[in-house]
Amino acid sequence: MTARIIDGKALSDTVRAEVAERVKALSAQNIQPGLAVVLVGEDPASQVYVRNKAAACEKAGLLSRVIRMGQDSTEAELLDMIQQLNEDPAIHGILVQLPLPGHMNAAKVIEAISAEKDVDGFHVNNAGLLMTGKPLFRPCTPYGVMRMLESENVEIRGAEAVVVGASNIVGKPMALLLLAAGATVTLCNSKTRDLAAQTRRADILVVATGKPGMVTGDMVKPGAVVIDVGINRLEDGRLVGDVEFEEARKVAAAITPVPGGVGPMTIAMLLVNTLEAAERSAARQHQASL
Ligand code: GUN
Repeated sequence: MTARIIDGKALSDTVRAEVAERVKALSAQNIQPGLAVVLVGEDPASQVYVRNKAAACEKAGLLSRVIRMGQDSTEAELLDMIQQLNEDPAIHGILVQLPLPGHMNAAKVIEAISAEKDVDGFHVNNAGLLMTGKPLFRPCTPYGVMRMLESENVEIRGAEAVVVGASNIVGKPMALLLLAAGATVTLCNSKTRDLAAQTRRADILVVATGKPGMVTGDMVKPGAVVIDVGINRLEDGRLVGDVEFEEARKVAAAITPVPGGVGPMTIAMLLVNTLEAAERSAARQHQASL
């Protein structure tokens, strides 16, 4: 069997076109969704991500404001900036790019973002809402994966889903979304005793470890759907995922490539979250004016 390649780039274009349509509809009410992206320091990968997020916003008709703060900025200065953005009616979504410099407490910074503007879905209120099945914002990467599974008509109800990697950003929210959709979910971490025994049971295998080659072809169940969240730059400059793509594609029914798989979907879902924050804000304003 040779796996079907799940084209995240094409699907992200479709999602972005849908966002652009809804942005147009909001502009009839004189509202333009606005995203503020805060970048502290000069991490090269973060600079690229932030540029890509801002460009995607502008292309879909959203307002994007990039706030660059020096590596030596204090936590108090960052909290003050977040407060200003919380109060700014032109800004519907706030994203503080991670990782932050070591002298800052990331949890404290994230909790300072208004939960209604937390388009990353990282605030404890949003994590709690997701856990109790009433999500306000779904974290962008797992949300993008769910959208991919849906567009591929993957049966999630009753499926065995295995998630490798238990981060707050990807693994944990991914497990919760799959669970909510009716999968039986196993969440693996770096201490999992026999990882291959777990992954070989997976009808849906999501890998988010940041370790190239973590999942080899023999760890994939024949006919599985494999979603590779990893984006790793090798020494020779190549970009690869966490799954050995060439081996895994001989076994799987469908697989995401790197690049061109999950990555473009993450940005598309950030636009969806920002748009929906603006739509909710417009509905609140309308309600208040009645
Ligand atoms: N750094 C890596 N991924 C992310 C993300 O999804 N959101 C933010 N804010 N920072 C990140």
